[in-house]
Amino acid sequence: MNHPINVLFITPEVVPFCKTGGLADVSGALPVELAKQGLDVRITCPYYREAREYFENSGGNPASVLEECTLWLGGRLQKYRILESVLPGSNVVVYFIDFPALYDRPELYTEKGEDYWDNFFRFAFFSRASLDLPGKIGFKPSVVHANDWQSSLAAVYLRTVFSDDPVLGDAKSVLTIHNLAYQGIFDKGFLDSGDLPLSLFTSGALEFWGQINVLKGGIVFSDAVNTVSPTYANEIKTKEFGYGLDGLLWYMSGKLTGILNGIDYSVWNPEIDEHIPSHFSSEDLSGKMKCKIALQREMGLPERDDVFLIGIVSRLADQKGFDLIAEAFDKLMNLDIQIVLLGTGMPEYHKFFEKMAVKYADRFAVRLEFDNALSHLIEAGSDAFLMSSLYEPCGLNQLYSLRYGTIPIVRTTGGLKDTVVSATKADISGGRATGFKFAPYTSRAMLRAVKSALKLYKDAPESWRKLIRNAMLKDFSWRESAHKYIELYRKLLQV
Ligand code: ADP
Ligand code: GLC
Repeated sequence: MNHPINVLFITPEVVPFCKTGGLADVSGALPVELAKQGLDVRITCPYYREAREYFENSGGNPASVLEECTLWLGGRLQKYRILESVLPGSNVVVYFIDFPALYDRPELYTEKGEDYWDNFFRFAFFSRASLDLPGKIGFKPSVVHANDWQSSLAAVYLRTVFSDDPVLGDAKSVLTIHNLAYQGIFDKGFLDSGDLPLSLFTSGALEFWGQINVLKGGIVFSDAVNTVSPTYANEIKTKEFGYGLDGLLWYMSGKLTGILNGIDYSVWNPEIDEHIPSHFSSEDLSGKMKCKIALQREMGLPERDDVFLIGIVSRLADQKGFDLIAEAFDKLMNLDIQIVLLGTGMPEYHKFFEKMAVKYADRFAVRLEFDNALSHLIEAGSDAFLMSSLYEPCGLNQLYSLRYGTIPIVRTTGGLKDTVVSATKADISGGRATGFKFAPYTSRAMLRAVKSALKLYKDAPESWRKLIRNAMLKDFSWRESAHKYIELYRKLLQV
């Protein structure tokens, strides 16, 4: 009989309660698949204002598990509550750490482009309180699974404060790095607020160029570290992608692996998607054209079924390659195409794209906000989806695009490299090809890839339709990826 595995899954965001990016999608889906495969998984997440409003708007509130909890941290007794809910459509319990002074704020991490000044304490507290939870609810984790820097201190506390703990002392720890660029770097003075002794401030633990590096602590102290695609797991061991931690990751490569993300087909599926006006499948694409027209109408673009429509949904961050798009913008707009963009992020891109939407009003439309329903419509209604990322740990949007028959045009990096197969003639007819790729990080290479896609769309509609079918038939469900996580847990637990 298989040895039972209990997982404490610590995450700073989880759909549908709170989200800034793909980590939330992963946290809302992977635990459900792990549970389906027989594991007992409990999630912890901060109770942000966004989560509170989610419950208020859906007419309820999560149950309160323990009215008042206390935790001695940062030189005083901190009072908080634990609230309980489940991931919709599953039995997976989410425990929210409710501490309004820390989490009841307009945003998750930053406001007006500035990080919250007390982010170190906010996430030290979250990590520490997450580890207190199992003892309070009678749950004995065999694995503590942390995600990104915001929960990395859990691995540090596990090996220090909790090393002899009857509940957690034997637990193994896994850290998933969703994005190495965000490391949680803070002034040394914050150590005290997390009750972390000065002895941890060494180059072999938390110290990084004279500051605290929280992710580094997670990497050093976790029993296993993984990233979200095999290619990114290799890339981060190089100077180009390592953001200063490449040496450490190289040194620790024995415990570093890459496990590709899956996607949640109960949410991202054009046959049942509740956010799109018309459903479709690989057998019957007629609904996709209706979605295209609906998208053009929604965005105020000319309703033309024959024009090549490119969608972009993204954080407007340097990582996503918007410098290439900005540089090539006039040339892109010289082609017979339309582009719709949904995104929020760096103010300079907000300004630039607002200007472009005026200049090219008949072919470019932008929404500078976070809008989940619109992101589904863009996936459904576009012909192609552009991701010109400088680096991309996994990327979920290209996977959503595949499912919606929206052909990805991507740069060959990280998970984009691992999930999209270039449209050569042989691979289109053989069923392998699913999209277009470019390698050099230049606007020229990107433009060339867009032009190749446009040419196939215009000149070879049969091949384009075949490409759509190939894309829609690919399977990136969580089943396989969850299985790989279970193998990783088993290896650590030797069961
Ligand atoms: P990352 O996590 O680096 O932002 P991913 O491709 O893994 O990139 O995931 C991004 C997720 O966030 C996708 O689910 C995408 O649809 C969503 N997203 C990004 N920006 C927006 C936005 N402005 N409105 C709605 N959804 C968005
Ligand atoms: C990060 C990465 C993205 C990945 C997501 C979920 O935000 O930037 O590539 O898909 O995490 O793992």
